[in-house]
This record gives sequence, structure tokens and C-alpha cells, in this order.
Amino acid sequence: MNLTAISEASTYVKDQLKDAPAIGLILGSGLGVLGDEIENATVIPYSNIPHFPESTVSGHKGQLVIGTLEGKQVIAMQGRFHYYEGYSMQQVTFPIRVMKDIGIKSIIVTNAAGGINEDFQPGDLMLITDHINNMGNNPLIGKNDDALGARFPDMSQGYDKEYIEHAVKCADALGMSIQKGVYVGNTGPAYETPAEVRMLKTLGGDAVGMSTVPEVIVSRHAGIRVLGISCISNMAAGILDQPLTHDEVIETTEKVREDFIKFVKNIISSLP
Ligand code: HPA
Repeated sequence: MNLTAISEASTYVKDQLKDAPAIGLILGSGLGVLGDEIENATVIPYSNIPHFPESTVSGHKGQLVIGTLEGKQVIAMQGRFHYYEGYSMQQVTFPIRVMKDIGIKSIIVTNAAGGINEDFQPGDLMLITDHINNMGNNPLIGKNDDALGARFPDMSQGYDKEYIEHAVKCADALGMSIQKGVYVGNTGPAYETPAEVRMLKTLGGDAVGMSTVPEVIVSRHAGIRVLGISCISNMAAGILDQPLTHDEVIETTEKVREDFIKFVKNIISSLP
């Protein structure tokens, strides 16, 4: 990972800010609307930031939104980079390095995911308690730069326990029901086959998606505390007798938009 590239990107962003954000937000498919809630926002298209890749998926905007949310300074990614778009793992996670350099201490990572756990329903929100990296790659492969993190970072607390407890309390306070579970990261872009979904269930997965795992690995490498939230946008392949479409994913995330916004705002207002 190129330290000069990281610092050129972070300097470009920092030069446009008065206050340093402490909380990062990655807004997944259909969940970018939360970025529109940010007040006194500085909006920076990814294409303007030195060394940033560009987002290619519909439903993802491709910009940083930096400002105030619930009285906290936040930096939100409206749209993320996916491995299936053809980016390297290092490119997918480059924004995490940049946000770390800008000064974030915590990150809230969101995504749309297929429900493997049959107690789940489309529209449920799931707190990620752990993940399974099923992508066959890892963003930390290659020479380690000790300035960025340890060669062999601990992943036993990938998803911060205190943050999960905090989020559960927020859900209770709002009268929202919330699920918890293990997120499986697959490369995509093809959705899983029913046989693969049965395999992932046997392996201990509760939800499956095509993102998040690389960003969380790099966040932990960088010492950033992570909260992960999946929006269960559909039941994974083979659970219901119907084909999966990206339109269904976006439709469900639109339906839960208000609850999602309320929930994340409440979490941010009093994040430990
Ligand atoms: N599988 C993988 N990724 C997804 C899904 C799914 O069912 N739904 C949303 N993202």
C-alpha cells in the first residue's frame, strides 16, 4: 500500500474541511440516502480525489459526504468499491486507509445482504457479529507496512462488542426489532446457487453479500473500531421459490430507509 497515495488523497480531502470527522460511514446499495441527512455537508466526488477508484454500480453514487450528523462530525462514503467490479483488494479498501489518515476512530459499515438464516425476513436489519471471508483473497496480502498495522492482525474482535451492545440498546429504545448474525463475504457478481447457500448455512453464515469483509479487515488492521449493519434485502437463493434481482434488493432497502436512518442516527448520537 502506497503511503504517498494515501497521504495525497487525505490531504486533498482535509484541505476542504474545518473539523476532522471521527466517525466513518460506508453506505451500501440503496442505503446512500443516509448521506443526504448530513448537515453543512462538504460533498467530494470520488473522481476528484487523487488515487481514488470510481464506482460503477447503479444505486451507488460515488462521493464522500462530510459534515454533521446528530452533532457528530462524520465522513460518509455514498457508494463503495466492490471486488467484483475488477478492482484489486487494495483499491477496494483504499478509502479506509484515507479515512484513517483523516482521523476516524470508528466506522459504521452497511450493506444489503441475502438472508440465509430462515428466521430472517426481507427488510430486517442485522447487526454483524462476525464474518466469514469466502472471497479467496485478503486485502493485506503483500508486503506489510508496519506504519499501517500489524503483519498478523487479530480478527477475534472484528466487530466491536461494545458497539453491538450499544446498537442493541438503541434498537430497544426505538422499539425496533433487530437481528444479529454472521456475514459471509462472497465475491459475486453472480448471486449464489441454492447449493452454495446450503453450504454457507452449514458453515455458520446468517447472511451473504459481496462487500464489507475487505473493508473490515483493513479497518481492524488500522485499529479502527467497527460496527456492521446488514439490511436483509432478500432471502438468499433457493430459500424461496423465486429468482433474485438487483431491483428487489434496491426495493427492499427503499422500504426500510426510514428505520435504517432513524437507527443509525440514534447509534451515532451516543456512540461510545
Ligand atoms: N447474495 C449476495 N449478495 C447480496 C444478496 C444475496 O442474496 N442480496 C444483496 N446482496
